[in-house]
Amino acid sequence: MVDEKKLHALREEALAEIAAARDERALEACRVKYLGRKGQLTNVLKSIAQLPPELKPIIGRLANQFKKEIEAALRQAKEEIKKRQEETLPGIDLTLPGRPYPLGKLHPITQVMVELCDIFLRMGFSIASGPEVELDYYNFEALNIPQDHPARDMQATFYLSGDKGVLLRTHTSPIQIRTMERERPPLRIIAPGKVYRCDSDVTHTPMFHQIEGLMVDKDVSFADLKGILTLFAQETFGSETRVRFRPSYFPFTEPSVEMDISCVMCGGEGCRVCGQTGWLEILGAGMVHPNVFRAVGYDPEEWVGFAFGLGVERIAMLKYGINDIRLFYENHLRFLEQF
Ligand code: PHE
Repeated sequence: MVDEKKLHALREEALAEIAAARDERALEACRVKYLGRKGQLTNVLKSIAQLPPELKPIIGRLANQFKKEIEAALRQAKEEIKKRQEETLPGIDLTLPGRPYPLGKLHPITQVMVELCDIFLRMGFSIASGPEVELDYYNFEALNIPQDHPARDMQATFYLSGDKGVLLRTHTSPIQIRTMERERPPLRIIAPGKVYRCDSDVTHTPMFHQIEGLMVDKDVSFADLKGILTLFAQETFGSETRVRFRPSYFPFTEPSVEMDISCVMCGGEGCRVCGQTGWLEILGAGMVHPNVFRAVGYDPEEWVGFAFGLGVERIAMLKYGINDIRLFYENHLRFLEQF
């Protein structure tokens, strides 16, 4: 049971602890310890009802007086701590909330590129890479595009040397050559990367991204090419997506095809995006040309393969309904933050 002596001792102890508190945290701990819901002085005040009648007024008055004193001491100590902070760090209010730093995230093109690569990685492809500054030999010559070949004009090239021997790669296909020079088949690679063409409008930027694919083995067929690319299209655009393969031409594949998917906007009905055809072209592909195998020292009688190349920006635009490719590279936060 409390008596006057104990109560005085409690007061002394509380005031001493408050005087010793160095910061607001310590002060708050004092307040809780003595005046909190289960605080020592609070308990005394609660127990007054059980005291003998002659003690009630004495202990009651004393306890209430000490409560006020302790509250005043807490207030004063708090002021002093604030003042001390103000003296050491003038003008700085340590109680203000901190500034939030906005988190960065991956560029939409990077996000789509990672997503597309993942689909091929799951199918057992691994990643290869090569230089963006490339030799004519790898970008053209070894890909069965000799000097004076008309296909060179299809890809407006940035040349870096006067004799046109060094250039910015116009596609990721040179990585096919570099990988085959380095490794023996069987081979199953994809090569994501930046490519460059002197071209700029709503569907072209001078720099864009491609993903190249190459599979070489003893018994790869055109059916494998169709199967893998169909699965890729359905993983990317949804399982209801239909595909079709149209004959096309690339110097480094024979036969060559372009793959279309059913329009992502109208589902094949015909709309403005697909030019009323119901189809959208998304990539080029074909069986590796024997001359390409010869250039890297693979025997075309022994090995077969297929290759494909797709434009990442184009797929990102179709996926997200973006109608101007330049939006990707203007770096407006209101555009980028939507991804
Ligand atoms: N390199 C071709 C282009 O950029 C795409 C392609 C790659 C076509 C591989 C067929 C095989 O247009």
